[in-house]
Amino acid sequence: MHRVAPALAMIRNIFGSQTGRGAAFWIVNLLIALVVPSPIAVPVLIARFRRAPPPRRPSTDAPVSGLRAREDAPAHAVPTKEDHRMSEASLFAPTQLGSLALKNRVVMAPMTRGRTVGANVPNALMAEYYAQRAGAGLIVTEGTSPSPNGTGYARIPGIWSPAQAEGWRQVTDAVHARGGRIFVQLMHTGRVGHPANLAPGAELLAPSAVAAPGVVHTDAAGPQPIPVPRAMTDAEVRHAIEELVTAARNAIAAGFDGVELHGANGYLLEQFLSPETNRRTDMWGGSVEKRITFVVEAARVVAAAIGGERVGLRLSPYGVNAGMKPYPEIEETYAKLVAELVPTGIEYLHLVDHSAMGAPPVPAALKRLLRQAWPRTFILAGGFDRASAEAALRDGGADLVAFGRPFLANPDLVARLERGLQLNPPHAASFYTPGSKGYTDYPAAA
Ligand SMILES: Cc1cc2nc3c(=O)[nH]c(=O)nc-3n(C[C@H](O)[C@H](O)[C@H](O)COP(=O)(O)O)c2cc1C
Repeated sequence: MHRVAPALAMIRNIFGSQTGRGAAFWIVNLLIALVVPSPIAVPVLIARFRRAPPPRRPSTDAPVSGLRAREDAPAHAVPTKEDHRMSEASLFAPTQLGSLALKNRVVMAPMTRGRTVGANVPNALMAEYYAQRAGAGLIVTEGTSPSPNGTGYARIPGIWSPAQAEGWRQVTDAVHARGGRIFVQLMHTGRVGHPANLAPGAELLAPSAVAAPGVVHTDAAGPQPIPVPRAMTDAEVRHAIEELVTAARNAIAAGFDGVELHGANGYLLEQFLSPETNRRTDMWGGSVEKRITFVVEAARVVAAAIGGERVGLRLSPYGVNAGMKPYPEIEETYAKLVAELVPTGIEYLHLVDHSAMGAPPVPAALKRLLRQAWPRTFILAGGFDRASAEAALRDGGADLVAFGRPFLANPDLVARLERGLQLNPPHAASFYTPGSKGYTDYPAAA
C-alpha cells in the first residue's frame, strides 16, 4: 500500500491531474478553433512550398550509413493497387520509417517506468521488458534524460554518460535480436521534478522561473511540492541543446535506431513553446516565432548530428499535463512550428491526444492541418484500439499508430490485436514502482 500513493501522485504528474477541468478546456478549445483558423492556414500553406527535403520514399535497399544492416527486413512483393489500399489500412502490414523497415504499423508509445537502480543506468530487467514487447513495429522507450538536470522523476534512465549508453546497449541488443526496432525518447523534465530526484549536482532549470503546480514523488521523502525552477541563462539554453546532440550521438552508439525528441506533456521543449511557461524576452521567447526557436533548433542540430531519418518529435497540443494550459495562439504556434520543422529533415511527427486520459481533445481540424503540413511519417497516439487505429490508417490520419497502456499490460499486444484476443488490464499502482512486479510479469496469451 505504501507504494500506491506515490505511484498515483506520479501518474497524476506524468499525464495530468486536470481531469475535472476537461469540460472547461473543451469549450475553450472549440471557441479557439472557431475564432482563429486563419493564423494556422498560412504557415501550413507556406510549409507545402518551402525548400523541404523531398519526402523519403520507402526503400529496403537504401541503408543509412552507420546503421547496422538488417537481414530481417521483410521482403516486398510487387503489390496490386487493391493490395496496396488494403495493406495501407492494415496495422499488421510491413512498412517503412524513412529507410528503416518496420514489421508492422504498431508503435509502442513511450512510457516512463522508473526501473533504473542508481545513477539512471538501464539494466537487464529493462532489457527483458523491452524484448518482451519487440513485436511492435517500433518501440519508443520511456522518457530518458539527456542531462543530469532533466531527471525530475525518480529512477528514470539517462543517456548523457557512457555508463548509461552501455546500459542501453543490452536493451537495444535484446530488441534487435527479436527483430524489433527501437528509438529512445529524449525527455528533459525542465521545471517538472524535485531536487531529491535529480542526479548529483544537477538543478531544476526551465525557460522561466514559473513553478509547475502539484507534487512529485520522491523516494526519499514521498510526495513533495514542485519547487520554482531557476530560469536558464542564454548559455544554459544553448548547453541544453548541445546535451540533446550528445545524447543523440550516445543513442546511436548504444545501438538505437533513432531518437524521439519529447516535445509533449509539459516538459522542457513544451515549456519553451508555451507563453505560460516561457516568459523570456530574449531570442528564445516573447513571440510565437521566438518561442518555437528552441524546438526547431534542437530538431535541426540533432538531425544534422545523426541524420534526419533517425529523428522524430512528439507533440501534445492542448495537453494539460504538468500544469500546461491552452493559450490563445496555440494553433498558430503548432502550425508555425511544424512549418519550420519540415526543412530540418526529421522523419516523423508523433502527435498525442490525451483525451482518453482526461485532457481536452486535440481538435480534429488541427490534427488534419498538421498531418497535411507534414511530408513524412505521421504517428498518432492516445486511446487507440484495433478498430480506431485501422480507421486512422485507412482515412489517412496516420501512417503508424502508437499504443501506450495496452502495450504496457500486454507484451504480445500485436499478436493479441491480430488474433482478436482479450487484453490484460494495466495495473496503475505498479506503473512507476521498482522491480519486476507489474513490469515484466504481465502474461503473454497462450
Ligand atoms: C505509465 C505511463 C508512463 C508514461 N510516460 C510517458 C513518457 O515517458 N513519455 C511520453 O511521451 N508519454 C508518456 N506516457 C503517455 C503515453 O505515451 C501515451 O501517450 C498514453 O498512455 C496514451 O496512450 P494510450 O491510451 O494508448 O495509453 C505515459 C503513459 C503511461 C500510462
